[in-house]
Amino acid sequence: MTSREITVTVNGQAYTRAVEPRLLLSDFLRHELHLTGTHVGCEHGVCGACTVLLDGVPVRSCLTFAVQAGGHVVGTVEGLAADPDPYQGWHSSQSETGYNFANWSNPQADQALEEGRLTTDQAKRKAAYATFQQLFAAEVPSLVLYYPQYHFAVSKKITGVTADPLDTPADRFRTIAEWKFKSAT
Ligand code: FES
Repeated sequence: MTSREITVTVNGQAYTRAVEPRLLLSDFLRHELHLTGTHVGCEHGVCGACTVLLDGVPVRSCLTFAVQAGGHVVGTVEGLAADPDPYQGWHSSQSETGYNFANWSNPQADQALEEGRLTTDQAKRKAAYATFQQLFAAEVPSLVLYYPQYHFAVSKKITGVTADPLDTPADRFRTIAEWKFKSAT
């Protein structure tokens, strides 16, 4: 199949890539751009794990082709900066493929986590996550002892590294396209 060149602006940065016409936007984001904050769950447009913003409108990236995003603006969870999304850790769909190691399953918590992901309204997101926190505190599926902080060292030979915020270890490579090696002179 003939690939097509597209330019997509993701989280404020333009990317030009040759893509197969049937490449899903979720796969494009995860495998081409290494933006793994966009998760894949049901792959049928039901769970909302893959939701991204396309020109500010929430869409299921598992039902959207990458070529449809050509010339448009995409926002992923990485672009939300320090807006921690607890979906991967506590949604029941993440027991096998995510970090829900406690296998916690609470339909109300699932609903709150999905609502938090799907809305771009900060007040609604805050309310959804507050509901999730109340349910979590009532059932205590796991005892949270600490919140991880990520640190990494950068060689002085490399410039252009932006270090924050780091919500996941992979975030340290978020701006790798802007990194430069200082030439030895
Ligand atoms: S992966 Fe479930 S809606 Fe896309």
